[in-house]
Amino acid sequence: MTRGFTIWLTGLSGAGKTTIAERLDAELRRRGRRVELLDGDVVRTHLSKGLGFSKEDRDTNIRRIGFVAKLLTRNGAAVIASAISPYREIRDENRRDIGDFVEVYVECPLEELVKRDVKGLYAKAIRGEIAQFTGVSDPYEEPLNAEVVVRTDRETVEESTAKILAKLEDLGYIPPAAGGNGAGPAKAEAWQSIAPHGGRLIDRRVADVREWEERARGLKQLRLSAREASDLHMIAVGGFSPLEGFMTRDDYLGAVKEAHLASGLVWPAPITLSASQDVASGLREGEDVALLDESGQLLAVLHLADIFPYDKELEAKEVYRTTDVAHPGVASPTARETCSWAAR
Ligand code: ADX
Repeated sequence: MTRGFTIWLTGLSGAGKTTIAERLDAELRRRGRRVELLDGDVVRTHLSKGLGFSKEDRDTNIRRIGFVAKLLTRNGAAVIASAISPYREIRDENRRDIGDFVEVYVECPLEELVKRDVKGLYAKAIRGEIAQFTGVSDPYEEPLNAEVVVRTDRETVEESTAKILAKLEDLGYIPPAAGGNGAGPAKAEAWQSIAPHGGRLIDRRVADVREWEERARGLKQLRLSAREASDLHMIAVGGFSPLEGFMTRDDYLGAVKEAHLASGLVWPAPITLSASQDVASGLREGEDVALLDESGQLLAVLHLADIFPYDKELEAKEVYRTTDVAHPGVASPTARETCSWAAR
């Protein structure tokens, strides 16, 4: 199972915790992680509804967030908790409980926060209209050993986010980003025993399944055999790197005749998606098509880049070196008719 961790963002109200949390959330999802965001303001609308801002109530709030973060972390999630969490002792308690805990101090001088005053709360607190306001009339205990300190008055959101991601890479919670921030080969080696074919691990999985289900609605559909669904899976997770989709004509012919892709990389067998002549003639290059499994479940949305016929006999002779239908590779293309189509 993927190793879970909690990024704990602490700092004064308005310092930028939520903004950074949302950026981190998007970036970790893009890298294929399951992420849960636990934001103080949001948690206070349900899990901590009714709690105020006394020390006792704040401690309860932070312990609740810590409890949920612990459950998620031990299930392999990337958790981003963001709350003022003004008391060191309770943050440290969460650190001990959760274990895989990365504390980030989102620091911004009070003068700057008062100047920004996005929610208009500092002005009210200074006028005495809000009691016990952190930083104004209530304590904030700065972290002494935060893994990362970001200064939001001097750094852009991107810079702060990049610092946190780099720390997660250093700590071994996430693999170094491909072509990322100068991560050395030794670091990459810890994550992959050999480099992916072509040098870059392809990842075509989607972050937001619902968004793609929405997009798939109304598209033409194609049912895949179990074998084709398995190829699709391999493409999606990078098992067929550098293929980013089923082969287009150039790659197909290259693989069949020369055992090479059009890019020049070695690739000895065709990976195509076939359709009967009837189905293929109803499809147009350039359109998107919903790919379903044998039971009709949506598997993927394919951008149809290229439709082309394939040469069964040539394929059999060149790739499998036999035309004997007892060979599984020879038998499989005959299961469908004369038209193969593929896409990126
Ligand atoms: S914590 O202290 O328990 O960690 P939490 O992060 O959940 O606080 O909630 C802080 C938010 O509540 C602030 O961003 C602000 O919008 C609002 N708030 C309302 N009253 C106060 C107060 N007295 N002190 C700090 N934040 C307050």
